[in-house]
Amino acid sequence: MPVTTVTSLQSLKQKGEKITMLTCYDATFAHVASGAGVEVLLVGDSLGMVLQGHDSTLPVTVADMAYHVASVSRGNQGALVLADLPFMANASIEQTLLNSATLMRAGAHMVKVEGAAWLADSVRQLTDRGIPVCVHLGLTPQTVNVMGGYKVQGRLEAQARQMRADAIALEQAGAAMILLECVPTELAQEITQAVQVPVIGIGAGSGTDGQVLVLHDMLGLSISGRVARFVRNFMVGQPDIPSAINAYVAAVKDLSFPALEHGFQA
Ligand code: KIV
Repeated sequence: MPVTTVTSLQSLKQKGEKITMLTCYDATFAHVASGAGVEVLLVGDSLGMVLQGHDSTLPVTVADMAYHVASVSRGNQGALVLADLPFMANASIEQTLLNSATLMRAGAHMVKVEGAAWLADSVRQLTDRGIPVCVHLGLTPQTVNVMGGYKVQGRLEAQARQMRADAIALEQAGAAMILLECVPTELAQEITQAVQVPVIGIGAGSGTDGQVLVLHDMLGLSISGRVARFVRNFMVGQPDIPSAINAYVAAVKDLSFPALEHGFQA
């Protein structure tokens, strides 16, 4: 059992203490990040881009995810391990259940699915069977081809209304956590206040219950050289990687990250 659980995350939200999450793909970084106090290690399908060198997350398979979840799990010192269900791994309810079970058996404590209110049935069925679910709303990289690029979501009032309704519907279906990616700061804050479960943001401003960054981004490492507006390079001013991860945890906890310039306006 990890030290961080769905209930300890819930009580951080209730106390108003910010939650820290980082992506993580291997045992050594899992050891360092969980030792630094990162509460949630996200084995993200971003590994398709930062580890495998693809230009999207679409090529990542359940077997890839299970391999990295198992690696992270071996180095983890008490964080909650959250594993992404990769592209099309939730194409049907049966596949969702089987693929989630594979990731839980590999060492995950919760699975993350990208989508919207249409996920409600999967969320209910997974939760009923003992698998907590984090729902990823806003910019969902697995649907990049439908969205026409990696764009901020929820800027139009109708989109914003839909996202608020989706978050509430998914919480009612049993979601244990919500992750908002590239959503205007004000909308992210409204959604955070509208639900009881923890809301974690990336490019969603400072009003969420916690923050997540891709590990390589916050260490200043990039293949493309492009840096998203919501990223801060925590290596700046730090002697080594463990210190940079400590600095990230401290900055999220003391509310100095994200700053105003890391967020988006409607
Ligand atoms: O796959 C991932 O790393 C993610 C984060 C960008 C939140 O989903």
